[in-house]
Amino acid sequence: MKTKETSYFKQWQEKTENETAKRPERSERFETSSAIPVDRVYTPDELTGSYETELGLPGEFPYTRGIRRTMYRGRHWTMRQYAGFGSAKETNRRFRYLLEQGQTGLSVAFDLPTQIGYDSDDAMALGEVGKVGVAIDSLEDMEQLLEGISLDKVSTSMTINAPAAVLLAMYMVVAEKQGVPAGKIQGTIQNDILKEYIARGTYIFPPKPSMRLITDIFSYCAEHAPKFNTISISGYHIREAGSNAVQELAFTIANAKAYVDAALESGLDVDTFAPRLAFFFNGHNHFFEEVAKFRAARRMWAKIMKEEYGAKNEKSWQLRFHTQVAGSTLTAQQPDNNIVRVALQALAAVMGGTQSLHTNAKDEALALPTEDSARIALRTQQIIASETGVADTIDPLGGSFYVESLTDEMEKRAQEYIKEIENRGGAVAAVDQQYMQREIRRTAYETQKKIENEQEIVVGVNKYQLDEEPEPELLEVDESFVSDQHNRLNELRETRDNTKVKKALEELKFHAEGSANLMPYIKEAVREYATVGEICNTLREVFGEYQG
Ligand code: 3HC
Repeated sequence: MKTKETSYFKQWQEKTENETAKRPERSERFETSSAIPVDRVYTPDELTGSYETELGLPGEFPYTRGIRRTMYRGRHWTMRQYAGFGSAKETNRRFRYLLEQGQTGLSVAFDLPTQIGYDSDDAMALGEVGKVGVAIDSLEDMEQLLEGISLDKVSTSMTINAPAAVLLAMYMVVAEKQGVPAGKIQGTIQNDILKEYIARGTYIFPPKPSMRLITDIFSYCAEHAPKFNTISISGYHIREAGSNAVQELAFTIANAKAYVDAALESGLDVDTFAPRLAFFFNGHNHFFEEVAKFRAARRMWAKIMKEEYGAKNEKSWQLRFHTQVAGSTLTAQQPDNNIVRVALQALAAVMGGTQSLHTNAKDEALALPTEDSARIALRTQQIIASETGVADTIDPLGGSFYVESLTDEMEKRAQEYIKEIENRGGAVAAVDQQYMQREIRRTAYETQKKIENEQEIVVGVNKYQLDEEPEPELLEVDESFVSDQHNRLNELRETRDNTKVKKALEELKFHAEGSANLMPYIKEAVREYATVGEICNTLREVFGEYQG
């Protein structure tokens, strides 16, 4: 008999109604960020479906409880702090500092000129060089960025999308120069253009050529760099743009399906590329909704890959993801409060089974992190890993009546969105119709209204404010490096073999006009020290630019 049908439950319900008649609860309605109603209490009635087909044991299809049999008992998640600012030399120093402090993976933040395919001395780069990430113009900068870091011993994530092929080629050539063959390099290239159109904005080319470059990377890495993750399909920025958790989950999975379709259309077999697809989600405030989001994501992806795409390799079914805790929840007010937000968001990511994690620094609503704030952010992960015991068993919240109910509801609502997107012709078409963008804007507006009418509390911002805000010590990036960057770029253009550069760029252009995989030609241009701007401008001549 269902719990809610028992006299025991009915009596409890009556007593509770009597009590709330006298002492009403603090709100008439409780809900998650995705407006999923939150009940007063959950009971065993929530545990629907068979354990084996809906939850499974860790490392077993559909992976709801985790993709690996031992999870963090075998290996903690990768502590991978996103970092990069100023010159390659400056960022190399921060990388070494973070590695000395115990981080276990690298994560490169590139400045906007690099991300949008302009050299540091391009008029379009003015004021942005080295600002939100490191300035990388050529192989020379990449060599400086990775100086003293053995690329056979570290995995490196690169947050680069439109020019992903160029930066990946640079990374491979630096590895080769270290004597590390491409087959040994480990890491991830973000390479996810759809979310750039939807939310982040660092796109260059229109969808068709962009999808070609993406699947060129899938194909090239499958053959030459099989340990490298070829895409990090991102929900992070969709959430940062104002979506709720269900939309983040749904739009990410819909984008992922579009990449699988594009790879299949390019002639690749699903099990050739799918094991190296990776994901990237936001770690946000509503603790249990976030845990449920990650668990639902694994189950959805496993079923999609096995049942819809017929993938046979279990690695194709396993959703591996990185989490960055939500930058948009950091407050400029009382920045120390952010240490608590980050810790709770990180805990949710760990309870949700993330493979890799970035924890934000407390001052990032104000500036790039100082060394001190970056260290506290990393220590937050180390404390969760070493002092709380939460990494000692797998999916500790599994079986919770609430979390299982929320996991089912997240999956159901996300599937409704995915169905709508499929009815619109898939993610590429939906992006073109501005469908996902409109949904995100609507949610962002509703959320902001809730904050402004204090329905949603942001501590220190619309409640518990201080009359006098503390003056935190912030990072000052020395801008004098920009002229040095320009001088080095000019010197490079004079000293390199320009005949070979010209030939390599002409070869690239010729093949861009054709249908060959462009990675080998981009790699040749990179090897001759052609710049990011020169390579991207060559591709702009052939592909044009996306008019968002
Ligand atoms: N048992 C057995 N093996 C295990 C194990 C266990 N319990 N745990 C891990 N391993 C193995 C794995 O199998 C793997 O080996 P393999 O590659 O041969 O399979 C190895 O240990 C490493 O484990 P993971 O692959 O789980 O961890 P990684 O850290 O290497 O990879 C990832 C994680 C999510 C798959 C990868 O894609 C990744 O690192 N992503 C990071 C992306 C990132 O950092 N993005 C930052 C973006 S910043 C941004 O965009 C925001 C900005 O705009 C503001």
